[in-house]
Amino acid sequence: MHCTRKLNDTIHWVGGSDRRLALFENLFPIPRGVSYNSYLIMDEKTALIDTVDSSISRQFLENIYHVLDGRPLDFLIVNHMEPDHCAGIEELLYRFPGLKIVGNTKTLTLIRQFYDMDLDGRTLIVAENDVLPLGSHTLRFYFAPMVHWPEVMMTYEESEKILFSADAFGSFGALNGNLFDDELDFDRDWIADARRYYSNIVGKYGPQVQAAMKKLSGLEIAMICPLHGPVWRSNIPYLLDKYTHWSKYEPEEKAVAIFYASMYGDTENAVNIFAGALAESGVKNISVYDVSSTHVSTLIAEVFRCSHLVLASPTYNNGIYPAMLNFLHDMKALNVQNRTVALIENGSWAPASGKLMRALLDEMKQMQVLDPVVTLKSALKEDSAAQLAELKDSLLQSLAE
Ligand code: FEO
Repeated sequence: MHCTRKLNDTIHWVGGSDRRLALFENLFPIPRGVSYNSYLIMDEKTALIDTVDSSISRQFLENIYHVLDGRPLDFLIVNHMEPDHCAGIEELLYRFPGLKIVGNTKTLTLIRQFYDMDLDGRTLIVAENDVLPLGSHTLRFYFAPMVHWPEVMMTYEESEKILFSADAFGSFGALNGNLFDDELDFDRDWIADARRYYSNIVGKYGPQVQAAMKKLSGLEIAMICPLHGPVWRSNIPYLLDKYTHWSKYEPEEKAVAIFYASMYGDTENAVNIFAGALAESGVKNISVYDVSSTHVSTLIAEVFRCSHLVLASPTYNNGIYPAMLNFLHDMKALNVQNRTVALIENGSWAPASGKLMRALLDEMKQMQVLDPVVTLKSALKEDSAAQLAELKDSLLQSLAE
């Protein structure tokens, strides 16, 4: 049985959600599931914007056939060739003999890499700014390379002013019946997953996101239809503001997030004392994460949110504790920059993690490390407590700037 929603009288959401998948990209936990959005435009010609992941292909086909109501599918616009959106291409080519695939040259290269299907006479290659008239609707194509794959393009429907934005402006999270941003409390229920989605999947490509936003800035946009998560039609400025901060690596909030690793609880104890001292000095909404038990994608999302980071790590095999090292490598890989960082190291005989964490932060852009770097020798003692108090004052001063 079909499960669709109408964007308006002629454009339909024909995607679906997967609440069974544990790890998106076999990497990111998605306890709230994920949606794969696809949109079908009914006009003199019919056009489908992207397909879906193979996990929901049966639902997807039922949705398409219901909306088409006996008509053929004329065009499939492929905005993005990652398999969570392109799994249905071959099946649709078999089912609709007149169907043409619309994409750019890079799209076609990727299709041929992923599939062995015969595409002779079945493709329409478009260039930047090309248009495809469907009748009363007209599609215009804007390329958004490396947001976050090279072939990515966005499709703008000119008569209804709808932007089909590919992965951009998407979020983890299954759709629970509500499709539009004004049907749900995004800031309460969705923003953490949207931030985690952006920061981990698109985060590395901030300059490319900026370029795409600049390119689209002259367009009047009534609706943004991403490939995952809710459709935006009411509070688009809220979303654009988030994307501006994230893509410029500007923190959303002046806030402190503490990330610690602790083998036997002594580094954790120092962190708790530090957080309490900050709170007594008036700092609110402090976040504390154990990097061993918190998925690194959540840690990364918090880095994108917060202005001030505290990293506390034991020394392990003369290096940084593995979970903290992995977190720092991920920060660098995702192009994290422009944060203020306080460091706490621990080492029972040769503490080195502070120096090593600083060296990794120095490889990132505009990361300011506060003085002093606190050194614990096994556990917090009077001398290290004094350093911790100094570090608290540095952090408070920086927060006040
Ligand atoms: Fe949702 Fe880049 O695929």
